[in-house]
Amino acid sequence: MKKILVVSFSQSGQLTQIVNNFLIPFKGADIDWVKIEPKDPFPFPWSNEEFYNVFPETVLEESIQLNPPNFKHQEYDLIILGYQPWYLSPSMTTTALFENEKFCSLINNKPIITIIGSRNMWLNAQESVKLFIKKAGGNLVANIPLADKTMNLISAITILHWMSTGKKDRKWGIFPLPGISEKDINETFLFGEIAVKAFNKNSYDELQDNIVKLNKISINTSIMFIESRAKKLFRIWAKTIKKKGTTPKKELGG
Ligand SMILES: Cc1cc2nc3c(=O)[nH]c(=O)nc-3n(C[C@H](O)[C@H](O)[C@H](O)COP(=O)(O)O)c2cc1C
Repeated sequence: MKKILVVSFSQSGQLTQIVNNFLIPFKGADIDWVKIEPKDPFPFPWSNEEFYNVFPETVLEESIQLNPPNFKHQEYDLIILGYQPWYLSPSMTTTALFENEKFCSLINNKPIITIIGSRNMWLNAQESVKLFIKKAGGNLVANIPLADKTMNLISAITILHWMSTGKKDRKWGIFPLPGISEKDINETFLFGEIAVKAFNKNSYDELQDNIVKLNKISINTSIMFIESRAKKLFRIWAKTIKKKGTTPKKELGG
């Protein structure tokens, strides 16, 4: 039987829900789902200080220690990676995953599908993940980016409410719900239906096109523009903060 490796990380459970729904059409397949965890867990909910404190290391894509992931098999036919962007970069847990030799050897020469659970800015993070995959010799066959479709400024407010309270509810009872909509999360199985066909045929050439044809992924060009400029600034700020140190701990190099 062909084997699938699924690797993901989620703080709130949103990405777990997305991946879970994507996998519905794969029922009966041999799936090894490894949920990666940082050795020192990130806070959730986040305090303001903690939230901004991870900025430089995330942007500079510094590695952290993971609890050693346990992969059931020596080889897989398909890899599915679920991840989220942090500060226009892969979340630190995702960056660390690509430092794991075993994982990199498992993706070598294998098809990979990435599934992203973002607010709405995932393009830069995906560029980094593409490079990580290429370096490990993997073959990225499709990307399924999910995002919060409410207005950029509104979703920035609602996500901060969610991250700082841990509650995916309406700020002051009036703002829209934070994060990816329940409908979009529930409909992720539609992408899975297309992917399982490609998996069964062992042919991924048309997978990305067929995913796009579902008309469920939209890229907002004005957000794209903001994102491309912001990443350059983020890198400069991250380096400056690292040099100066933002907290007594960081100033001491801790
Ligand atoms: C520190 C931090 C930074 C984030 N930065 C971004 C970002 O740059 N772009 C984006 O679209 N979402 C960003 N998000 C939202 C996450 O990508 C993700 O959608 C949210 O944290 C829920 O993911 P979960 O499944 O891990 O709970 C950020 C979240 C955190 C905690």
